[in-house]
Amino acid sequence: MYPINLENLPNGFELIDDKIKFDPNKHLKLEKPGEIFSLKNFGYSEKSIQESPVNFATTSVFRILSDEGCEALLDVSRKLEKFTTSSPRISRNVRGGVYRSRFLKDLCLSDEVSLFLSDIAGINLSPHTIPHQLGHINFNPLELEKNVDKWHVDTLTFDYVLFVTDPKKNDGGEFQYFFGTKDEMAELKKNNKKIPKNKIITPKIPGPGFAVFQQGKHVVHRAKGLTSPGERITLVNGYMPSDPEINDYTKFGELCNVDPMEIISKEFTNHTAAQVKKLLNEKILEKNFKDLNLDSIKQLEKASEILKSAINQLKKGKKDMEHFGD
Ligand SMILES: [Fe+2]
Repeated sequence: MYPINLENLPNGFELIDDKIKFDPNKHLKLEKPGEIFSLKNFGYSEKSIQESPVNFATTSVFRILSDEGCEALLDVSRKLEKFTTSSPRISRNVRGGVYRSRFLKDLCLSDEVSLFLSDIAGINLSPHTIPHQLGHINFNPLELEKNVDKWHVDTLTFDYVLFVTDPKKNDGGEFQYFFGTKDEMAELKKNNKKIPKNKIITPKIPGPGFAVFQQGKHVVHRAKGLTSPGERITLVNGYMPSDPEINDYTKFGELCNVDPMEIISKEFTNHTAAQVKKLLNEKILEKNFKDLNLDSIKQLEKASEILKSAINQLKKGKKDMEHFGD
């Protein structure tokens, strides 16, 4: 079972009154993106691509929510705004909203959306098993011109960035990505060089409910500040490969800057246990005598590596949050 139990919430969380129940038939309007870009298009090397779960990088803008879905999510987001916290990158975000809103939880865990996104990325994806990596909501900073989020790559592998408010009603507040590699961006920033204008892509977002989906650990992106007063809200939902053999990618140390330590530690531990449990079940326990061969040693080693890596990260604890500035 997915590890979100709304009957047993972490300390400090309680459910808001959503009013509306998430209904995929009513609230989703999934429309395939016209274009899909690969890591190769972004300039990533064969080696980096080989080491990634898939060559998929990002999409053109596409629709996820219907008008009714947008209305419901806007209402939920506004109700959650009083729970904003800050991180070294973002001045106002709501994390752990899936513990506060059934609507948000059900949208973020929707099978329809997971299948749709898996098809786009070319790999089976599941909603992230760290609940604080689901349903992240960004609100515009209270100061004008201040960026919503700095240039960065994500602390997880896959996510969509969905406009909850209508970007046409805002001045500024653009979502942008760098059409190059993470190393290229690091090099530019290290040498205090300007990012070439032709490498900055600003997707045109036609309205609320539209999104960009990306392999966020590779696509460097940011969200600009508003240039005149307004309301800008975006939803970022995290996904991970469903195959437990694929290496986990969670920057636990960085998340310790963002979320309450005891909650994120428990969630990361659960996430690790869930991956190992799935791996042992699928690759060993569900196999019969005929299937058992040398591969089972590989699987046991894999399980042991996942556990060791998580133990190391948990022991090390908080790490500086990486980003490339404004
Ligand atoms: Fe991001």
